[in-house]
Amino acid sequence: MPREDCCSMLLALVARFLWLCSVAGLENGLARTPPLGWMPFERFRCVTDCVKFPRDCISESLFMRTADLLVSEGYSAVGYEYLIIDDCWMERQRHEITKELMPDRERFPRGLNFLSDYIHNKGLKFGLYHDIGERTCMHFGPGANGYYALDAKTFANWNVDYVKLDGCFIKNINLDIAYPAFGRELNKTGRPMVYSCSWPYYQKHPNYELIKKHCNLWRFADDIRDAFDSVGKTMYNYYKQQKNLTKHAGPGHWNDPDMLVLGNYRLSYDASRLQLAIWAIIAAPLIMTNDLQTVRPAIKTLLQNRAIIEVDQDPLGIPGRCVYIAGSFQIWVRPVMPFNNIGAHSYAVAFVNIGNYEPCPLCPQTYEVVLKRLGFENDLGYKVIDLFGSMEDLGLFKPKDKFITRVNPSGVTFFKFTSVDMY
Ligand code: GLA
Repeated sequence: MPREDCCSMLLALVARFLWLCSVAGLENGLARTPPLGWMPFERFRCVTDCVKFPRDCISESLFMRTADLLVSEGYSAVGYEYLIIDDCWMERQRHEITKELMPDRERFPRGLNFLSDYIHNKGLKFGLYHDIGERTCMHFGPGANGYYALDAKTFANWNVDYVKLDGCFIKNINLDIAYPAFGRELNKTGRPMVYSCSWPYYQKHPNYELIKKHCNLWRFADDIRDAFDSVGKTMYNYYKQQKNLTKHAGPGHWNDPDMLVLGNYRLSYDASRLQLAIWAIIAAPLIMTNDLQTVRPAIKTLLQNRAIIEVDQDPLGIPGRCVYIAGSFQIWVRPVMPFNNIGAHSYAVAFVNIGNYEPCPLCPQTYEVVLKRLGFENDLGYKVIDLFGSMEDLGLFKPKDKFITRVNPSGVTFFKFTSVDMY
C-alpha cells in the first residue's frame, strides 16, 4: 500500500476513534465548576395564563425581563450565566409532520431562536427543560421518548447551552439506558450543552458511578420549596448520603440539591444565609429561582457575595460534608484553595444552628470547637475571615485553639480558614 494511503487510513482510524470517544460518554468539557444561573420553577411554577398574570406567566417576556435584570442588577458580573426555561414552555403536541417540539406559540410568539439570540446577546447562556419519558412532569408537553436524536438536534438548532432532563412518566423506560442514550445524542450534535439529569432522583439505588460518566449534574433530592424546613430536609438528605455523594462530584460532575430559593417570601435573612452557605459548601450549582425585580436589597447582597461564590466555585472541586451533628448544631466543612507551601489546604466552615435547641429553640447559640477536632492539622495555623462579615479578619488560629462562634436560630456563621505558609 502506498505510504500516503496508509497514513490517510491511519488518520481516518484515529478520527473515528476520537469521534467514538466524543459521543460515547459525556466529557463535554463543561461545568468545570458548578453552574450558576436562574430557573423559574419554584417561583413561577406552571403559570400559563398571560392575560390574567402577565408578569408571572412562563413566556418570552419573563425570560427577556430576567435576562435584562441578570445583567443590569449585577448578577451576571458575579457569575450567574445560565438562564434556563423549566417546564411548561411547549405546545402540548409535537409538530404534526416533522414531529419536532414546538414552543407555545402564544407565550413564545417569536420562537426559541429569537429568545436564545436575545439571551446570548446579553452575554448569557440559554438552558431548556425536557423530560426523558412520555410527558413533562407537569404533564404539559411531550417527553423525549422515541425522539432522542430529533430533540437533541432541535435543541442544538435553538443554540441551547444547558439541558435539564427530567424523569417523569417513565413506564417501561430503563433510566440507566435512557439518560446515557439522550446524552450521546446531545454529543452527536457537536454543540456543547451542559447535561443536567434528574436520573438518580427517580431511582431507589442510583448508580452514581454510571451517572457521573454521563451527566454534568444530577438531582439527588426532592423539589425544593420556599421554606426553611425544605432547605433543612435537603441538607439532611445530603448528610445521609454524603459518603456516596462526595465520592462522585468534582470538576465536570456535580450533586444538585435543586434551586436557591432565597429572594422569595418565606426564608428569613438568617435562613437565606444558611441556604447559600451550605450550597457553597457542597459545591452545588447556584441556580436562583426568584423574581429578580423584587429581590430585597439585603438578599441581593447575599446572592452576590463574591467570597461565598468563590467557595462554591473553588477550583479543587472537592465537595464538603457535614462533619458534626448534635441536636440543633451542625458543622459543615469543605477543603478549598489555597494550599500552603507544605501542602496543607484551606477550609470553608459553616456552623449551623438548625433552631430546635432546647431549652431555647429561638435563641442564638454559642458554640466552641477545638480546631484539631475538625481535622485541621496545619501547626502553623490558619488565618480566619468571616465570609458574611465584609471579610473581617478574625486573626490566627492553631489546631489546638478553640474557635468560638454564636449562631442565630435557623442560621449560620461561615468562615474561611486559610492555611498559613512556612517561611
Ligand atoms: C419536577 C422537577 C422540578 C421541575 C418540575 C417541572 O418536579 O424536579 O425541578 O422541573 O418537575 O414540572
